[in-house]
Amino acid sequence: VPALDSNGKHLQESTLLASAVAGRPVLVQGLPRPTYLVVNDGPKLAGYAINPSCPHHKCTVEWKTEKNVFVCPCHGATFDAQGKVTKGPARRNLPLITVLVQEDDVLLVD
Ligand code: FES
Repeated sequence: VPALDSNGKHLQESTLLASAVAGRPVLVQGLPRPTYLVVNDGPKLAGYAINPSCPHHKCTVEWKTEKNVFVCPCHGATFDAQGKVTKGPARRNLPLITVLVQEDDVLLVD
């Protein structure tokens, strides 16, 4: 579990890089809600995070590595690794969260 500050939003970069594969969403535990982090290739962490709350009726989507999609368990909407909707009934993309890196801390900004 990544280290968190009192806001629950700071994560340790080293911990995240150890479990991250470039372009593949990684579920981050321990935040106020589950969040997927997507990192770019390279030695330093950079990328974005995805709020897995389905824009249709707010069910929590799950990342399926073998199919490379997020799937909503409620009505079957799918989204790509960038959170773009690829199948309805959802019509909007998954909300993206900005990732800021300060020293060894990772800050998720809603
Ligand atoms: Fe996700 Fe309906 S809540 S498809």
